[in-house]
This record gives sequence, C-alpha cells and structure tokens, in this order.
Amino acid sequence: MSQPGLVLKSSSSESTREIGSIIASVCHPGDVIALSGDLGAGKTTLTQGIAKGLGIDESVTSPTFVLIKHYSGDRVGLTHIDLYRLESEEEALALDLDELFYGDSVVVVEWPDRFMSVFPDQYLLLTISYSGLDERVVEVTGVGQRGDELVEKLRELFSGSQYL
Ligand SMILES: Nc1ncnc2c1ncn2[C@@H]1O[C@H](COP(=O)(O)OP(=O)(O)OP(=O)(O)O)[C@@H](O)[C@H]1O
Ligand SMILES: [Mg+2]
Repeated sequence: MSQPGLVLKSSSSESTREIGSIIASVCHPGDVIALSGDLGAGKTTLTQGIAKGLGIDESVTSPTFVLIKHYSGDRVGLTHIDLYRLESEEEALALDLDELFYGDSVVVVEWPDRFMSVFPDQYLLLTISYSGLDERVVEVTGVGQRGDELVEKLRELFSGSQYL
C-alpha cells in the first residue's frame, strides 16, 4: 500500500464531519471509499459528514447490524456498508458488493481491512485514528488512477486549511 497522500487532523466530531463533507465534494457516482480505523475511532462520524456533503439530509447511523444502508441524495446517493460482523470472504461475496461498487452511488465501507480482495482496483482509502480525547488523524491514500486523482483534488482543497 502506498504512503498517505494527505494527512488531516481533527479536534472534534464536528471537524471530522466537516472533513467528510469536503471529501464528498470531489466524489462522483461510483466512487468507492474504504474507511478503516479502530473501534469507535470515528468512521461513522466521518461518513455522516460525507453524507452531508453529498446533500443527504437524512441522519446516518451505523449499519453494523443491517450491514448495508442506502441514502438518496440530490446530487448522488450514498451506500454505507459495515463489514465488521462478516467472518469470511464468502459472506462478503454473497452481499453482491460488485453491484454496489460499480453502481451509481458513492460507496463508503467501514471495516474494509479483511476484505480488500473484494474491492475494485481504484478507490480512496481513509484511515482514521485516535490521537487524543477528541483528536483524530485522517490519512488519505489513493489506490489506482481514480484514487490518485481524488487525492490530488483533495490536496488542493485542503491546502491552507485548519485541518493540515
Ligand atoms: N474528532 C473526533 N472525530 C470523530 N469522532 C469523535 C471525535 N472526538 C470525539 N469523537 C467521538 O468518538 C465517537 C466515534 O464514534 P463512531 O461511531 O463515529 O466511530 P466508528 O469508528 O464508526 O465506530 P465503530 O467501530 O463502532 O463502527 C463518537 O462518540 C464521537 O462523538
Ligand atoms: Mg461505525
């Protein structure tokens, strides 16, 4: 895996949502975001910001028990997937993730780590980690051509921001 192209710092849930919202602003239908991070690091909080940035008003909650939730947006929809409870690659394949990955929503996947083999070859990897009570670090890494393109756009958008 390549080095992160961009490292962002957040000091509150609100800032993490704002970061998500800015990330969403460069996303197009069909973009896939793998969202990695420990238990309670802030993956769902970041996804709430992504949803807001896509123009989704509905409140986004953790899909841990339902695995997949879809939200319609005014520009593009969001499919929010949580693989935490899956045990095998067969279970992941049974979800028909390909249909979602090559569909017309932005797809955010929490707990992607054990299932990278079912991912498409171009996506954005976000890794959120705890760095203090309300402090978090979000590492942004591009995978494949579209991943690199997104990182480039985000580097421009975040340059000079309070999140660097
Ligand atoms: N800077 C911050 N960014 C994100 N969340 C924060 C921050 N500071 C505090 N928090 C709190 O940390 C918690 C993060 O919970 P969240 O559900 O987003 O994590 P998660 O990574 O999705 O958890 P899970 O592993 O259960 O899916 C929330 O209670 C949130 O308010
Ligand atoms: Mg979560």
